[in-house]
Amino acid sequence: SNNIVVAIDGYSSCGKSTIAKALAKKLHFVYIDTGAMYRAVTLYFLRNQVDTTDAAKVTEALDNVHITFRSEGEQAHILLNGEDVSDEIREMHVASNVSKVAAIREVRHAMVKQQQLMGKSINIIMDGRDIGTTVFPDAQVKLFMTADPKIRAERRYKELVVKNPEITMEEVFDNLALRDHDDTTREESPLVQADDAIILDNSHLTPDEQLDFALGKIKPFT
Ligand code: C5P
Repeated sequence: SNNIVVAIDGYSSCGKSTIAKALAKKLHFVYIDTGAMYRAVTLYFLRNQVDTTDAAKVTEALDNVHITFRSEGEQAHILLNGEDVSDEIREMHVASNVSKVAAIREVRHAMVKQQQLMGKSINIIMDGRDIGTTVFPDAQVKLFMTADPKIRAERRYKELVVKNPEITMEEVFDNLALRDHDDTTREESPLVQADDAIILDNSHLTPDEQLDFALGKIKPFT
């Protein structure tokens, strides 16, 4: 097929979703947040106390996980078996367990399969950790985002403290560092930069500057 796939990978809280959403809006592509999918699976596993060390239990649980997206104006909502879990998947109890769940082979296979289906025939912007390497190795445009860890933690802290005034900067920083470590060192499709990915360090770029940069890379394919 000749649809366009833009793959955006990178560390946690690098601003991937911000730029992905802006690009999708500008280009009228569909935005798919794969991190939200791993978070939704994690939430299901937590709620149902799925034994993640038991492959058979994991596979059985995955059969009961149905993830769908629904867009409402500018907002993309994620539904877990029909329930809107968009807010809950951002909470710390999910964030501190997601990398462990995302490292499970059966979980990755199920998610990748669904992601590939979603990007089969329509123009998409997909962000995550393994999009340019595993999910869509033939994506026309691959961006790899990085940013200074302190700047990332500050940004994420500002988002989280609104809903959870108890949260500390240290807690947020540690969670990001741990997730980055787990995501880059896992056996099953670890976070690595694809050879043909373009690096985008957004530590000191405004959202508009990032958007212009990315649009310039995508334009030749549209
Ligand atoms: O992007 P976000 O930070 O919401 O992703 C949450 C977690 O999901 C990541 O820390 C990572 O462990 C996992 N993930 C992944 N592969 C993806 C997207 C996210 O392993 N494509």
